Amino acid sequence: MKNSSQTQSQENITSVMDEKRVFHPDKEFTKSANIKSMALYKKMYKESILNPEKFWGEVAGEFHWFKYWTKVKQWNPPHAKWYIGGKTNLSYNCLDRHLNTWRRNKAAIIWEGEPGETRILTYQVMFREVCKFANVLKQLGVTKGDRVAVYMGMVPELAIAILACARVGAVHTVVFGGFSAEALKDRINDAQAKLVITQDAALRRGNLVYLKPAVDKALEGTSTVENVVVYRRIPDSNISMSPGRDHWWHEIMQSVNDQNEATQVDSEHPLFILYTSGTTGKPKGILHTTAGYMVNAYLTTKTVFDLKDEDIFWCTADIGWVTGHTYVVYGPMLNGATSVMYEGAPNHPEPDRYWRIIDKYKINIFYTAPTAIRAFIRWGEQWVLKHNLSSLRLLGTVGEPINPEAWMWYHKIIGKSKCPIVDTWWQTETGSIMISPLPGITPTKPGSCTLPMFGVLPEVVDRKGKPVPAGSGGFLIIKDTWPSMLRTIYGDNQRFKKQYFGDYKGYYFTGDGARKDSDGYFWVMGRVDDVINVAGHRLGTAEIESALVSHRDVAEAAVVARPDEIKGSAIVAFVTLENTKIPSLLLKEELRNHVAQEIGHIAKPDEIRFSEGLPKTRSGKIMRRLLREIATSGTVVGDTTTLEDFSVLEKLRSDEE
Ligand code: PRX
Repeated sequence: MKNSSQTQSQENITSVMDEKRVFHPDKEFTKSANIKSMALYKKMYKESILNPEKFWGEVAGEFHWFKYWTKVKQWNPPHAKWYIGGKTNLSYNCLDRHLNTWRRNKAAIIWEGEPGETRILTYQVMFREVCKFANVLKQLGVTKGDRVAVYMGMVPELAIAILACARVGAVHTVVFGGFSAEALKDRINDAQAKLVITQDAALRRGNLVYLKPAVDKALEGTSTVENVVVYRRIPDSNISMSPGRDHWWHEIMQSVNDQNEATQVDSEHPLFILYTSGTTGKPKGILHTTAGYMVNAYLTTKTVFDLKDEDIFWCTADIGWVTGHTYVVYGPMLNGATSVMYEGAPNHPEPDRYWRIIDKYKINIFYTAPTAIRAFIRWGEQWVLKHNLSSLRLLGTVGEPINPEAWMWYHKIIGKSKCPIVDTWWQTETGSIMISPLPGITPTKPGSCTLPMFGVLPEVVDRKGKPVPAGSGGFLIIKDTWPSMLRTIYGDNQRFKKQYFGDYKGYYFTGDGARKDSDGYFWVMGRVDDVINVAGHRLGTAEIESALVSHRDVAEAAVVARPDEIKGSAIVAFVTLENTKIPSLLLKEELRNHVAQEIGHIAKPDEIRFSEGLPKTRSGKIMRRLLREIATSGTVVGDTTTLEDFSVLEKLRSDEE
């Protein structure tokens, strides 16, 4: 039998323009939502655009400031400053601020290890651990502005480490634990990190993923790192420690006291660098600063996730990605919320692990990626139905466009047709959610991330920067600045200017293609540059190509994406070998492993195709469009008039057959 809310929301499905289905908010949800009406959203949105000083001043006023700002916003495209003249501390606002309230004993983090153990860290406990680790940082000579690389799995100590960095004014750069030693080395070198925080090994699908040995390897090619702190996750991991340089977390934490006064930092003090893929081979260090990021992370968490004090919030992202920074750690803790952190894989020991966790902790808000949803669909709903998910009241997605089928499955099977879905569009560069429904208010259309968040002015434009008519495709740009906007690419301001502000003067270019419908709803179609979105992770084709070319047998490589049912995109690499080298299955495997070693497993090509040549224009540019067509459908239907050597195409086609 259907419950009443299920019936009600199914009745709410109406058919509108483009025959797209619209899901109207459930009235019960609206009644208790943080933002209760469309009219209120519109009023707040208008104010955030027309009177940012007032709007953003009021939000920031909820925080602790050692010194108030004198001016909220300064926008000299492409350079933004927010809360000018202010002094604050993010760690203080995440922790100390809650200690004089009842939240002192509230769970800040509920952690579940892959083998099944639970750890609950209250705000008081987090505060104490963060203070102690801040003292460890000081003891190891880390001071304001120093860069600290963090290379860990999903353990509470990762959250403690970054909060401690913020506390002393050090700039953290979290490197996803799935990246290789080589990738870690590049990031340490680019950031000139002084300290590395890691763990012996992480657990993934019951296997040990050794992290400390990868750090040792990375440090062979770096010269800036003075100390390494190693958290022990595995009792008998038996890793080697280098005396003088390496320190066990549990030992060094014993030698410090638990009092640490948060360092006062300027609003624009750098908070973190997070590397992400771009259109060239070298990952970009996206730099975020303190106060603007803090305010935006706080506000979006509160409004998009309709966060209440009683809620248990689970964002499944790894802290190695921006989603984990903003919606596992900073956003929830700025709100004094309870955030769930799970260490392992969604299908370990069985494909119902997530549903088991939701049932066990009675999670209310669940935020995950479309690629995960598609995997759940494939694993089958019987795994979901084994568990009681009635605690859920809100669902979210992020990372790539969600296909309407996956949206519907998420809505019906996970949300039991009663939970609103917030499809949130944003990027590493934007720091926080930019376009998203507000639950209980915004009617949703499967596949659309709907309307802009406060202070965000998106537009879909043509090549010349002119807005395109409703319903037409174009490039997604953002006018003006917003508080959590990236400030630059670390160490490469020229690249920052060119990459984001080079195409549409004065406007931030997202790299995404999109269209806006006649209701003003945004539909993001995906990247229009050479960046691929694989299982919600961003990878640059150039990055994978340069990894392939670094193999001694490879002369040239071109990487393209082909649609994949689960991962969104699969990686297809066209490889030309050095003259004397002979193609073989073994070599294909070797090349795939080589990429994994250079970048990490996430970048491993799904398919390698050897070809005698690559299709190029007369000026020598690889025609990726043609390769994409070949990889996807096996034929080329587009324009080939600029192709330099037609025989290459013929060969590529016949190689495929
Ligand atoms: O292409 C868009 C896609 O992910 C890109 C940003 O990737 P990254 O910086 O790794 O951050 C991912 C998590 C914030 C965007 O340029 N993307 C992200 N969210 C959505 C999306 N595409 C469509 N719909 C979304 N909700």
